[in-house]
Amino acid sequence: MSPTASAPPAPPVAKTIAGIRSIVKDARAHGARVALAPTMGALHDGHLALVRRARELADLVIVSIFVNPLQFGPNEDFDRYPRTWDADLEALAALTADNTDGGAFSDHAEGAPPRRLVVFAPGVDEMYPDGPTQTRISGGDVAALFEGESRPGHFDGMLTVVAKLLNSVQPDAAMFGQKDAQQAFLVRRMVTDLNLPVAIEAVPTVREADGLALSSRNRYLSDDARREAVTLSAALQEVAAAAPRGTAEALAAGRARVEASSAVKLDYLAIVDPQTFRSVDERYRGPALALIAARVDGTRLIDNATVVLRSAG
Ligand code: PAF
Repeated sequence: MSPTASAPPAPPVAKTIAGIRSIVKDARAHGARVALAPTMGALHDGHLALVRRARELADLVIVSIFVNPLQFGPNEDFDRYPRTWDADLEALAALTADNTDGGAFSDHAEGAPPRRLVVFAPGVDEMYPDGPTQTRISGGDVAALFEGESRPGHFDGMLTVVAKLLNSVQPDAAMFGQKDAQQAFLVRRMVTDLNLPVAIEAVPTVREADGLALSSRNRYLSDDARREAVTLSAALQEVAAAAPRGTAEALAAGRARVEASSAVKLDYLAIVDPQTFRSVDERYRGPALALIAARVDGTRLIDNATVVLRSAG
């Protein structure tokens, strides 16, 4: 059989808000639960983990693909951000394999609501018909820390599009990667603060064999930079190993690991309280989140890991 003949059919694509709403309405009429996996495309296994989790929680899985101009700063990589539409559809089709009906999952039980995957891929004109929105969601103080300090306005642009996506799809649950821990924290806060009727799921980070967290930006790395990029996860491992000796020693161990690689320029290394996303001090005990951001040969990467500071007692 030729490869084309065996390729699973691509999932259906809705390009308008009215289109995706009508698909959701129809699915709900059949009793379907709905989950959204928001992405900017350039899909990798980390995104597919979001889709797999969504599939566990819902009958209709909507994968949004939209590179949101509002969350990129003027000197950031919006134009250069990878757009890999055909490969994205292929990767999503593979999740719905062994079907002739594009987008349908194979584990559909008799009498149950149809189980399927639909792509929501609005253009910029559909999401921002009047140009950038006048109304913005502000993530408050936490949105100005860490990623927000390096990327002013990023989180407000991200929260604004997430609010628009949630309103467009109105899912029961929405998936976010734990790799973007500050993003997941801020989305949860928005949902709580604004009483949005959706459950937010943080899906664990997917890593390469050497520990590098998967990211759409990894494809910018040269072979040399790719070898150095493991420094981020290695530094987090050093932080975790030194965490029983307290915050200062843990951070020092992580910094020492970054300084050992001349190709990696540290932006920040911090340990935060997962409940508040504020840096912890020496008195803090228990599970915390170690965050790192660094440039590797010009490409900015982030990662994080749970660490346990000085076990109590
Ligand atoms: O994490 C991302 O890919 C984006 O920030 C998101 C959540 C899709 C919003 O544009």
